[in-house]
Amino acid sequence: MRPLRGDPGAGADLAILCCCFLLLSFLSHGADMPLGSSLSPAANSTSWSSPNSTYSLRFVPSPTSPSLFVAAVTYAGGVPVWSAGAGAAVDSRGSLRLSSSGDLHLVNGSGAVLWSSGTAGRGVAAASLHESGNLVLNNSRGRVVWQSFHHPTDTVVMSQSFTSGMNLTSGPYVFAVDRATGNLTLNWASAGAAPVTYLSKGYNYTFTANTTLSSPKLTMQTNGIVSITDGSLDSPIIVAYSSNYGESGDMLRFLRLDSDGNFRAYSAAHGSGTATEQWSAVADQCQVFGYCGNMGMCSYNRTSPVCGCPSRNFELVDASNPRSGCKRKTELQNCPGNSTMLQIDNTQFLTYPLEIAIEQFYIGITACRLNCLAGSSCVGATALSDGSGLCWLKVSNFVSAYQSASLPSTSFVKVCFPGVPNPPVSATNASSPGTSGLHG
Ligand SMILES: *[C@@H]1O[C@H](CO)[C@@H](O)[C@H](O)[C@H]1NC(C)=O
Ligand SMILES: *[C@@H]1O[C@H](CO)[C@@H](O)[C@H](O)[C@H]1NC(C)=O
Ligand SMILES: *[C@@H]1O[C@H](CO)[C@@H](O)[C@H](O)[C@H]1NC(C)=O
Ligand SMILES: *[C@@H]1O[C@H](CO)[C@@H](O)[C@H](O)[C@H]1NC(C)=O
Ligand SMILES: *[C@@H]1O[C@H](CO)[C@@H](O)[C@H](O)[C@H]1NC(C)=O
Ligand SMILES: *[C@@H]1O[C@H](CO)[C@@H](O)[C@H](O)[C@H]1NC(C)=O
Ligand SMILES: *[C@@H]1O[C@H](CO)[C@@H](O)[C@H](O)[C@H]1NC(C)=O
Ligand SMILES: *[C@@H]1O[C@H](CO)[C@@H](O)[C@H](O)[C@H]1NC(C)=O
Ligand SMILES: *[C@@H]1O[C@H](CO)[C@@H](O)[C@H](O)[C@H]1NC(C)=O
Ligand SMILES: *[C@@H]1O[C@H](CO)[C@@H](O)[C@H](O)[C@H]1NC(C)=O
Ligand SMILES: *[C@@H]1O[C@H](CO)[C@@H](O)[C@H](O)[C@H]1NC(C)=O
Repeated sequence: MRPLRGDPGAGADLAILCCCFLLLSFLSHGADMPLGSSLSPAANSTSWSSPNSTYSLRFVPSPTSPSLFVAAVTYAGGVPVWSAGAGAAVDSRGSLRLSSSGDLHLVNGSGAVLWSSGTAGRGVAAASLHESGNLVLNNSRGRVVWQSFHHPTDTVVMSQSFTSGMNLTSGPYVFAVDRATGNLTLNWASAGAAPVTYLSKGYNYTFTANTTLSSPKLTMQTNGIVSITDGSLDSPIIVAYSSNYGESGDMLRFLRLDSDGNFRAYSAAHGSGTATEQWSAVADQCQVFGYCGNMGMCSYNRTSPVCGCPSRNFELVDASNPRSGCKRKTELQNCPGNSTMLQIDNTQFLTYPLEIAIEQFYIGITACRLNCLAGSSCVGATALSDGSGLCWLKVSNFVSAYQSASLPSTSFVKVCFPGVPNPPVSATNASSPGTSGLHG
């Protein structure tokens, strides 16, 4: 669609020609998709479009492995808002097919069914993509049998209601709205480790504290206000105002659980293909559990959260991916001598109110360190040093660390003797403006 460079006139003509062609091809697919219809990743495959082509359902390259494809509903310009099987990827011979029995299913090139709408034998007559972005399977009387708005993947668009009982998922992260309180919750869950709720937040909680909600619904309003409505509330609870709230125009606003475990509001201008962040539920990205992987340590350079390891006794699990987490160069059970607790200043092992895999004591810093050294399941400890007198012993097999000059806490990590600290931050180029350049 990009006009050729050189002769501007010819470029414009070509663009208009392309537009007409696209319009025609969209119009011819803006209708219902009958039983037997299918889509494939092949370049000549058509897409299924909403009546005005605001949304289309098509195969797009998988963000994680570009040779594979995901069947996604995308907003004009290419912002994905839903995908079959929550991002399940198929090879170039895969397909998305509305079977003669009325089941919409995603099939890999090998023939394996990776996802199904589960609607076989329920009278489905056609599929259609609505102007709202809702993919609907309806029966011959026009009744909705299944709709993508009731089975969200990681995104909620305007005019979609996200109710308690639904989940958004992205990797190990799950977003949900608590049924009783309406709290927005962010959870981390991974096989073999205790789940962690790293955010459970009520907005205008003084107002809802004495009310048990019945079925709270989270919505992104067209004006950019994120709110919760419920039958037992007289007025909506305002969760957040998008930075650009009130601004109108031909744009999509949506909420998404991102792969970094944060939940954000975005807006995307029609046709632009790019979304701009307007609000995030976790203001401090380093507070997202697991962001830097197991044993990873999150800190900030001047602009962004960065992931590293707690000390030189560790190395990245995948050297090319700082978010892959860290592993000990020598496992504790293989220590040639004894093990020791290496001190790391201005650092916490992340701990949340509802966490279970943690032991908490009111003891001083030395006892905190020694208790962890003596405990066979303890991997690290944090002395909060914030006046609370608290010591956290981490007994989970998955821990996240957070380092910041503003944190009073001191942490200890169990490693084989001797502990080798990281070089001081001022010796690297990721230093803060106050500490760099002083010696240059
Ligand atoms: C698309 O191209 C493939 C070969 O690349 C061909 O087998 C298939 O029939 C084509 N489909 C359509 C709808 O033209
Ligand atoms: C599609 O576009 C036309 C013309 O802009 C408009 O009148 C109509 O309301 C739109 N339909 C929907 C479903 O948005
Ligand atoms: C689909 O098939 C491709 C190629 O055979 C394979 O690499 C991929 O893992 C398969 N995907 C799933 C989810 O089974
Ligand atoms: C439902 O399917 C029928 C075909 O049986 C179609 O004519 C109708 O437009 C569809 N209704 C909706 C609401 O999608
Ligand atoms: C949502 O996630 C929770 C775990 O976080 C799980 O127990 C529940 O079954 C999920 N619900 C749906 C509808 O997937
Ligand atoms: C809900 O949110 C409020 C306010 O943010 C918080 O005090 C409360 O502990 C949360 N409830 C649960 C069950 O997490
Ligand atoms: C909380 O909700 C009440 C009732 O809707 C409203 O009057 C009040 O302004 C809200 N407070 C905030 C901080 O939004
Ligand atoms: C909630 O209940 C507490 C204790 O019963 C009371 O002090 C408070 O005023 C109530 N809050 C609201 C908003 O009704
Ligand atoms: C901070 O880290 C980000 C992400 O690794 C990187 O893109 C950026 O260049 C870094 N900025 C500075 C000032 O080092
Ligand atoms: C571990 O061994 C080193 C070297 O032998 C020794 O200096 C240190 O005190 C020992 N630590 C403990 C806790 O035994
Ligand atoms: C810092 O960056 C400069 C050039 O930008 C480079 O010469 C120097 O080696 C770097 N220092 C460290 C410790 O990485």
